[in-house]
Amino acid sequence: FFDGLAVQPADALLGLIGLYRADTRPGKIDLGVGVFRDDFGHTPVMRAVKAAEAMLLRDQETKSYLGAEGDVRFAELLAEVAFGAGPDRLAGVQTPGGTGALRLGAELITRSRPGATVWIGTPTWPNHAPIFRDAGLAIQTHRFFDVASAAVDFDGMIEDLGEARAGDVLLLHGCCHNPTGAGFTGAQWLEIGRLCAARGLLPFIDLAYQGLGDGLEADAAAMRGLMDALPEAVIAYSCDKNFGLYRERVGALWVQSEASELVRGNLLALARSLWSMPPDHGAAVVRLVLEYAALRADWTAELDAMRARINGLRAALAASHARLAAIGGQRGMFALLPLGPEAVEALRREHGIYMAGNGRINIAGLTLDTIPAFVAGVAPYLS
Ligand code: LMR
Repeated sequence: FFDGLAVQPADALLGLIGLYRADTRPGKIDLGVGVFRDDFGHTPVMRAVKAAEAMLLRDQETKSYLGAEGDVRFAELLAEVAFGAGPDRLAGVQTPGGTGALRLGAELITRSRPGATVWIGTPTWPNHAPIFRDAGLAIQTHRFFDVASAAVDFDGMIEDLGEARAGDVLLLHGCCHNPTGAGFTGAQWLEIGRLCAARGLLPFIDLAYQGLGDGLEADAAAMRGLMDALPEAVIAYSCDKNFGLYRERVGALWVQSEASELVRGNLLALARSLWSMPPDHGAAVVRLVLEYAALRADWTAELDAMRARINGLRAALAASHARLAAIGGQRGMFALLPLGPEAVEALRREHGIYMAGNGRINIAGLTLDTIPAFVAGVAPYLS
C-alpha cells in the first residue's frame, strides 16, 4: 500500500541536534537549531513560565476539552501583545506552534483560492515552502537577501514581485528574519504596503521572534503598520522563542478581514480536521503569564535580558572580523554567513562548530568566551 511513497531525507536542521550531542569534543560549539541559550549554553525554562506552571499544577481542576479554538483568553491577551490595544476585524485561534499557525493559514487560503501562489523570499526558513506546498499552494520565490554583501536586495525583490498577480500571497517575516537577521527599513515596509495595495497581494506575516530584536513594541511595529495600511492580512504567531516554550507548541493564527465571522468559522472547521484541538498546557501558561501583572513584568524583564544578550553577542561578532560587520545591524537569533556546504562541513569536522547547512548561525549559541575560537575557525572561509 505504501509503495507510492518516496524516500524522504531526514530534516537536516533537526538532525544537527543528534550530531552535536554525539560529539564528545569538549570545545564543541552548537550554533544549529534556533533556541535561545544563556551564557552556560542552557535553554532555560523562563522564570515566569515556571511560576505559571506551578500555579497550573496547584489550581487546574480539569483537563476536559476546550474546543477547536483552544484557550480563548490566551488568544485575546496575546493579540494585545502582538497588535496593541483593541485590534478589530480579527479572527484568531490558538494553534500548535507557529508551524500549526502557518499550516492553518495555508489551508484557509487553499479553501478560498485553491492553488493560489505564495511568494517567498530567498532564503527563508526551510519549512516555509513545504508547509504551503503541502497545503496545495504554489510557490514562487523572489530575491530577498544578497549573501555576498550581507544586505537586503530590495530592488531585486521589487523587480521579482513585478511578476505577482492579484490574489497572490506575499510571505513576510515580521521581525528577526530567519535565517538572515536582515530587516526592511521603515521606508521599505511602506513600499511593501503600497505594493500589496496596488497589486492586490495578501500579506502573510510570520511573527516568531517578537521581543528578541529591538523590543516587544518595536518588533511588532512593521506588522502593525502593514495591517493599518491594508484591509486584509494573515498573521502566524509563535510563542516558542519569546516564552521559551518550544516543545509545548504554542502559537496563534489571526486573520484580518471584513469577513471575520466567516473566516473564523472556517478556521475552526479546518482546525477540527487538522488537530481537533490544540494542546493546552503551554497556552494556559502564556495566559497566566499575561494575566498576572507580576508574572508579566518578570517575563518582560527576562525577555529584555535575552535580547540584550543576543545583541551584545552581535556587537562583539561584528567587531571581530570585517566580513562579520553587518551582523551588528541585524536582529534576532540568526545570521547567514557566506559559507558553502563544504566549509560548513569542515567547520563541524575540524572545529566542532555546528551550524545549519546554508551557513546560518544561531548567535545565542555563542558566548563572549567562545567568539574568538569561532571567529578563528570561520575566518579562513570568509573571502
Ligand atoms: C529554527 O529555525 O531553527 C527553528 O525555528 C526550529 C525549527 O523548527 O526549525
